[in-house]
Amino acid sequence: MSKTTAAVLKRHAKIERNATLLLVLSLLVVTVGGIVEIAPLFYLENTIEEVDGMRPYSPLELTGREIYVREGCYTCHSQMIRPMRDEVDRYGHYSLAAESMYDHPFQWGSKRTGPDLARVGGRYSDAWHVDHLIDPQSVVPESIMPGYAFLANTQIDAEYIGDLLAAHRAVGVPYTDEMIETARADFNAQADPDGDFDGLLERYPGAQVRNFDGLEGISEMDAMVAYLQMLGTLVDFSTFTPDASR
Ligand code: HEC
Repeated sequence: MSKTTAAVLKRHAKIERNATLLLVLSLLVVTVGGIVEIAPLFYLENTIEEVDGMRPYSPLELTGREIYVREGCYTCHSQMIRPMRDEVDRYGHYSLAAESMYDHPFQWGSKRTGPDLARVGGRYSDAWHVDHLIDPQSVVPESIMPGYAFLANTQIDAEYIGDLLAAHRAVGVPYTDEMIETARADFNAQADPDGDFDGLLERYPGAQVRNFDGLEGISEMDAMVAYLQMLGTLVDFSTFTPDASR
């Protein structure tokens, strides 16, 4: 051991033997480390990279999402694909931060009794989803998922859909006054392929318009299937390139 090392260690021994001094100096180190990590965040305008295609949920999709949260689907399903080989092979491109930027509350989760649902949109037909939600074992015999048949019998009136959008705007989702005013009409338009849905598509590009449950009226099943079918479909990953400069 060189002379200088010995001297430094001797001085350090002082700190090790004085609990108060050790505590004060440890706090100092943690404070400096904390400032270095946290302070830059206050000067960044945005920590989520912008990604083409992301838009707030349409009124019908948002309603489906509310039902998803209400029924506790998140207790068995996550919505976040991690950037690991097995997950990407099974579920598709790993999830981007931007893909859950309009989620309040987010549905990432770590509990996977069932599969991750972040990209389940378009993977099955509407009819499959309806059958599966009414009676999961009818399409996946070994499934342990409970049935949600009542969704198909529960009609939605959407009287308060504008308020729901306004509540989401209060926590940062960029719904415009126009979107809130037309919320109820957009809600109805998305489930009616014979109606006029041009305004809906202008406000919510890529929104899928059809009678999701195949039954008359708009039920919670329509909303749920509309939500499931759009999950993970907004970003076009054939043209997406991660921006490494951020
Ligand atoms: C008790 C746990 C549990 C709950 C609660 C649950 N699921 Fe599932 N879910 C599963 C399991 C297990 C599977 C895999 C077997 C199957 O397909 O039924 C599954 C499969 C699925 C699938 C097919 C996914 C795929 O990629 O094959 C969808 C969609 C789905 N669930 C939606 C929902 C929705 C919507 C809710 C809430 C209304 C819900 N689940 C609640 C356990 C659950």
